[in-house]
Amino acid sequence: MKEVSFFFGDSIAKEGLSIIKERLRVEIKTMERALAGNSPDGRAFASLPFAAEMPDLVKKLVKEKQALKPEYVVLIGIGGSSLGASAVEQAVAGNRKGPKLLYADTIDQFSVRAVMGTMEDSLKRKSAVILNCVSKSGRTIETVANFQILLQLLKKYRKDYARCVVVTTDKGSQLWHAALSQGFSVMEIPANVGGRYSVLSPAGLFPLAMAGVDICVLADGAAAMAKRCVDRSIDANPAAMSAAVLYHHYQNGRKIHDTFLFSPAFEELGKWYRQLMAESAGKDLDRNGKKINAGMTPTVSLPQDLHSMAQLYLGGPHDKFTTFVKSQDNGPATKVAMMKDFSGLSENIQGKSLSEITNALYSGITAAYRKGKRPFSEMVLPDRSAQSIGQFLQMKMMETVYLCYLMSVNPFDQPAVESYKSEARRMLGSKKVQ
Ligand code: PA5
Repeated sequence: MKEVSFFFGDSIAKEGLSIIKERLRVEIKTMERALAGNSPDGRAFASLPFAAEMPDLVKKLVKEKQALKPEYVVLIGIGGSSLGASAVEQAVAGNRKGPKLLYADTIDQFSVRAVMGTMEDSLKRKSAVILNCVSKSGRTIETVANFQILLQLLKKYRKDYARCVVVTTDKGSQLWHAALSQGFSVMEIPANVGGRYSVLSPAGLFPLAMAGVDICVLADGAAAMAKRCVDRSIDANPAAMSAAVLYHHYQNGRKIHDTFLFSPAFEELGKWYRQLMAESAGKDLDRNGKKINAGMTPTVSLPQDLHSMAQLYLGGPHDKFTTFVKSQDNGPATKVAMMKDFSGLSENIQGKSLSEITNALYSGITAAYRKGKRPFSEMVLPDRSAQSIGQFLQMKMMETVYLCYLMSVNPFDQPAVESYKSEARRMLGSKKVQ
């Protein structure tokens, strides 16, 4: 397997690291047990890549739905119930074949209408469209609203609509029962696997497999990384090492974590990680109920941001830690044409491939960070294959749990999100809502 590599440079002093290392020891052991399965808590996600029966179950259902020859699969879900699939789909683009995925992850009426328009055109051509409603709780307002709207549209065009619907939720949720009573297919999100940790459960695997992503290869990458991330030697354990480095800088006033993804195809991965870190570490109370208002603000940057954000990053306040993420394989070579008249415009680029130029930009920005004493680490993916992306996902989920352990917060709840959800439900119940 081509492994993802990490460079932590001199971003943390030896003494600082050994204290953090000592603290992480217990959590690494707990995580090691979680990998073996049957975790009684949110760490259950860690064993998903090893659950061989899960891809088989997903593949069986995929085969059944593919027989309908769908042109589109509409993923109806939000947050952890949608970001994982969109992140993987975008990152591996080009390495897959299958129906297109559409995302209904907002109730913005223009966006919903756009999905409806695409769906309707396809249904009018007598193609099938699969609706995949993903909701762990089965109660999220945006998801339930969109599901009902799109289901109504599907029913208008297909008598066999029930065959075209897959619901992915907690076993026993109200949505689960409603789906069964309608004759829809159902897939279970394992009980202890939380929304933002569910990408390697059927929540992510079903839409991805429908779209032609090799989910076994994705899981293989994740499984290999999971093993690396329970290594008791912290220097050989990328998740623990990364969490330690982040925590060290957090304690030293760097409250922003910028993930600088050196490929536009990784933008959604950045957004997936942004949710993972924000909802897991951003907590007002610690594990003992003491007010701490913990959290690092995750930001996402792309190569284009060299021309919009880099000035701030290099010249602004010393309040950020950066993780650069890049792929070694930048795709088929595209060269800058040799044109005499343009040779003086930008020096030394004639005849060079865009990949070579990208590497020069990358070296340039990391050199500038070093010179400006802006701390950073690097994560280098061998390529954009499902195997590499599986490694990325697993490492980030385990890193987040380790970081939360160091911050003394619960990585698996989201009380503030729940409070907004119930407030919105209360508003919808009152006559004042317009
Ligand atoms: O990580 C989480 O738990 C949340 O972000 C959820 O994924 C999000 O709120 C959607 O919830 P649900 O899957 O219950 O519809």
